[in-house]
Amino acid sequence: MKTHTEISTLQDHLKKIRLEGQTIGLVPTMGNLHAGHIDLIKEAKSKTDFVVCSIFVNPLQFGANEDLGSYPRTLDQDSEKLTGESCDSLFAPNEIEIYGSNPDNQTIVRVPELSNEFCGKSRPGHFDGVATIVTKLFNIAQPDIAFFGLKDYQQLLVIKKFTADLSMNIDIVGVETRRENSGLAMSSRNNYLNDEQRQSAASIYQCLNKTSDQLRAGNREFSDLEQAAKVNLQQAGLKPDYFSICNASNLQAATADDTQLVILAAAYIGPSRLIDNIQVKLPV
Ligand code: PAF
Repeated sequence: MKTHTEISTLQDHLKKIRLEGQTIGLVPTMGNLHAGHIDLIKEAKSKTDFVVCSIFVNPLQFGANEDLGSYPRTLDQDSEKLTGESCDSLFAPNEIEIYGSNPDNQTIVRVPELSNEFCGKSRPGHFDGVATIVTKLFNIAQPDIAFFGLKDYQQLLVIKKFTADLSMNIDIVGVETRRENSGLAMSSRNNYLNDEQRQSAASIYQCLNKTSDQLRAGNREFSDLEQAAKVNLQQAGLKPDYFSICNASNLQAATADDTQLVILAAAYIGPSRLIDNIQVKLPV
């Protein structure tokens, strides 16, 4: 696996790959790779000829009081894991390579509406940071297909929206969430939890499943269901941020006519803020 830290050398390499007629898959990450990221690499390997994984802890998507400084950086181990998966190329630039010496003067990509609610409300500017870095990575690598985890459901919709709005000829693929045996969605932020907190955190997925079952059973009292789930999370020792039943394509509050739903959840436990979701397809 070839590692590039410079945009120009990655682009020279990818130009050759494209001339050979190979398709390019991009897996953008912030590193500290776990089994969920490896699923993205495997999916990319199965759908494209040449897979690039990027690792960049993007300062633009962290708020002032968030964990940018402590976010786990494990480049050597990540590189070994990618080699083990026969990933073709690792792009691991530093901040200056990506944002130059004046990051505050950066052009920003902003997706209206979708970016404002849920994680966008609790983390102002977060999705502007995500949309901006992913746009840059798309322009740098010009992939045919890019792969993202469904765990970050709102992020996935934001990325699909700007890709369409900016007429980018890139397919966006969402890959199923990888879970611990307890059901807890894998996340680098699980690393901040002790054993007890990790066990309690599994209640997020339990609440999502319970609510999904109730919806499937015909319950349409959305706010009662949301409220009950928040109480369950509190009883499990978490501090819910949101628990919302939404239309799966635009994240508007669900209506009784919607059949494609997503339940979005975010909750604080110990030093972590965790997110998860479940899609619910109801009979038409
Ligand atoms: O999901 C992530 O790891 C990040 O938000 C992403 C998409 C790599 C952008 O920094």
